Amino acid sequence: MNDPLGRTVDYLRLSVTDRCNERCLYCMPEHYRGWLPQKEILSDAELMAVVRVAAGIGFKRFRVTGGEPLLRPGIVEFMADLAAFPGVESVQMTTNGMFLPRLGDGLVRAGVRNFNISLDALDPARYRAITHGDVAPVIDGIRQMKALGCKVKLNTVLMRGKNEDQIESILDFAGALDVVVRFIELMPVSMSEMLSEENFLPVGEVRRNLEREDILDPIEDALGFGPARYYRLRRRGVIVGFISAITDLHFCERCNKMRLTADGKLRPCLGNHLETDLLPALRPDVDLDALEELFLQTLAGKPAEHLFRSNYQPGRVMTAIGG
Ligand code: 5AD
Ligand code: SF4
Repeated sequence: MNDPLGRTVDYLRLSVTDRCNERCLYCMPEHYRGWLPQKEILSDAELMAVVRVAAGIGFKRFRVTGGEPLLRPGIVEFMADLAAFPGVESVQMTTNGMFLPRLGDGLVRAGVRNFNISLDALDPARYRAITHGDVAPVIDGIRQMKALGCKVKLNTVLMRGKNEDQIESILDFAGALDVVVRFIELMPVSMSEMLSEENFLPVGEVRRNLEREDILDPIEDALGFGPARYYRLRRRGVIVGFISAITDLHFCERCNKMRLTADGKLRPCLGNHLETDLLPALRPDVDLDALEELFLQTLAGKPAEHLFRSNYQPGRVMTAIGG
C-alpha cells in the first residue's frame, strides 16, 4: 500500500505488551508503574484479526515489540501463528534479549529468524546504570541466536556521557560474532527527562570518529526495511547502521511502517500524536470490514515527517508504542 506521499507502507510493528523487565533511562519514566490493565491489552485473537486485515491490504513484514515482547504469556505460540499466517512474509522481533536464553530455541522453531536486540553497553556496570538490568543473559542470548542461524542486529541508543565509551567494545563484540550494530539517535519518545542538549549524541559525530581510523563503505543492499543507513567498516569488517532520526532531514522519506500499540491504537508515525483507536472494530466482536476501513484511513493520514524537531512532547511512553 502506498501512502499519500507515495511511500510503500508494508511494515507493521505490533507492540504486544507495555510491560518491561528493565527500566532504560531513555524509555521508562523514573517511577513508571502505570501498566495498562490486562483487559486493555489486545488478545492473541484480536492481534491476529489486525494482522489478517493488514496482510489483506498488502502489509508483508511484521515486527513484534513491546515493552518487552518476551514478557507476554504465550508469545512463542503467537509468533508461530503469525509466521504461518498467509501473506506474512517476514516476522521479526525487537527484544531486550534478557529471556532469549530461555525462549530463543522455541522462537526459532516458531519461525522467527530475525532479532533486533537492544545493547546499550557491554560493561556490566554501565549496562546496569542504563537499563537497571543484567547484561550477562543478554550477551548469552545474542550468541545463542547467532548460533541458531538467526539474523541479529544490535540496537545501541547513543547517549553522551552514558555510553559513548562503549562504542568501541560493542563494535569489537559485533565483529567477533558477525552481527550488525545500529547506532540510534535518542528520540523524545518517552516521558523520561533523558533527552537534552547535553546527552544527545548525534550519529554524525560517531560516524566522524569512526572515519578517523576506518573507511565506511556504503552498503546498497537493503539490510533492513526501514530508514537506517548501513556501511561496512573496511578495517574492522563490521557492518554498522545509523538511525539518525533527529539529524537526518530526509529520514522520514524512507519510512515504510505503521505501529499498533499494545492497547489497540494504530499510529501512522512514532513522532506524532495521531492515532486511530481500533477497539470499536475489535470489541465486542471483530468487524473485519470496519477494521480495514480504519486501517486505510490511518494510512491516508500518515504524516510526511515526525515532529521531533519541533519541541515534540510525548504523550505515551515508548513501551506503549513499541519502538
Ligand atoms: N530513543 C531512541 N531509541 C529508543 N529505543 C527505545 N527508546 C528510545 C528512545 N527514546 C530503542 C530501543 C530498542 C528499540 C525498539 O528502540 O533501544 O532497541
Ligand atoms: Fe524495556 Fe526496551 Fe524500554 Fe528498555 S527500552 S525499558 S528494554 S522497553
